[in-house]
Amino acid sequence: MKPINVGLLGIGTVGGGTWTVLARNEEEITRRAGRPIRITAVADRNVDLAKQVTGGAARITSDAFELVRDPEIDIVVELIGGYTIAKDLVLEAIANGKHVVTANKALLAVHGTEIFRAAQAKGVMVAFEAAVAGGIPIIKALREGLSANRIQWIAGIINGTTNFILSEMRDKGLPFADVLKEAQRLGYAEADPTFDIEGVDAAHKATIMSAIAFGIPVQFDKAYVEGITKLEATDIKYAERLGYRIKLLGIARRRQQGVELRVHPTLIPSKRLIANVEGAMNAVVVQGDAVGSTLYYGKGAGAEPTASAVIADLVDVTRLHTADPENRVPHLAFQADQLVDLPILPIDEVETAYYLRMRVEDKPGVLADITRVLADHNISIDAMLQQEPGEGESQADIITLTHRAIEKNVNAAIARIEDLPTVVSKVTRIRLEELN
Ligand code: HSE
Repeated sequence: MKPINVGLLGIGTVGGGTWTVLARNEEEITRRAGRPIRITAVADRNVDLAKQVTGGAARITSDAFELVRDPEIDIVVELIGGYTIAKDLVLEAIANGKHVVTANKALLAVHGTEIFRAAQAKGVMVAFEAAVAGGIPIIKALREGLSANRIQWIAGIINGTTNFILSEMRDKGLPFADVLKEAQRLGYAEADPTFDIEGVDAAHKATIMSAIAFGIPVQFDKAYVEGITKLEATDIKYAERLGYRIKLLGIARRRQQGVELRVHPTLIPSKRLIANVEGAMNAVVVQGDAVGSTLYYGKGAGAEPTASAVIADLVDVTRLHTADPENRVPHLAFQADQLVDLPILPIDEVETAYYLRMRVEDKPGVLADITRVLADHNISIDAMLQQEPGEGESQADIITLTHRAIEKNVNAAIARIEDLPTVVSKVTRIRLEELN
């Protein structure tokens, strides 16, 4: 059987892993795909590295544009990352009639609409299993395995760097800054970790999942993004005492008025399986109306786990490229003309539960004042904890867990609480999801 020819853009960690796994499992992959999948050309600025990895078995070029125009190439695998050159290359590949496999979550979350439209017009596939949660086949699950369901919500630990940092903060009781330094030393966090620790990477992935789950366009610009940089070890400890763990969750939830799309540190009950996902691992819970709750767990990054997803896409494209484009699985799970305009709700309209921590004077009536403000704003209390003042201290920490409330009401209540003369600190507010 004639091989299908793949052009690889970028032979760094994931590209190298893709080369290795394709070579190692060639026989089985061919039996699945129906024909051999061969990387016949590689474009990388580091030509020496490319030569070393491929051992002369592929044509090497430093000109990525030349590769995407090469008439011999059937599928382009984009592993360059970023929004700029990668976007031009992907659009050029599509314009040249090539199918595209990409791990580029940033590109799809921001420019997905334009890219999928171009692919649709040209009748080519853009496959992106590796863009969300690395080796976990969550795109396949959402797009195909769960296609009977009305999906209600998705909540995922979809950034390994931050999950590693949060696990270490909890295990060792250390502050964020110390753990970040250690994570960088161990190679779990990049030299510039901004996208990870500020929640941007997780928001890219949540945006992609929201589109596939609800049949809406990708709208990263409307996502609420809050990272873990301001999280204090104290709150991780208090959460634990109350039976919760704090995780950076990417959440997409369907409500009647629209979709909540948000990334932020979140208390979740310790007894949930996802609360026990530690270190750099990823996990995603999907709630469907028919299937109920399903959980997907695995490695969200790394050479071979990500290559696993890239190659699964290569197999899919190889199987389907001769099919009529109308009969392929749609890019965003729903037929391209069936996407809906369900709005992404502003963060003020989000409905969730809250953890509130404040420091107060240990005097009569303080709790009554706080609970009155909450009641005035239609916020119901679920649990309360007062840490007794230390020896010789006259102030105490009060932690309140609320039932579900609308965020703008909670913010208004916080402003009033901070005005109380007996409340001596700002209120620390962390969202809480029971995930049930
Ligand atoms: N930097 C990501 C993470 C992996 O830490 O999970 C690639 O998205």
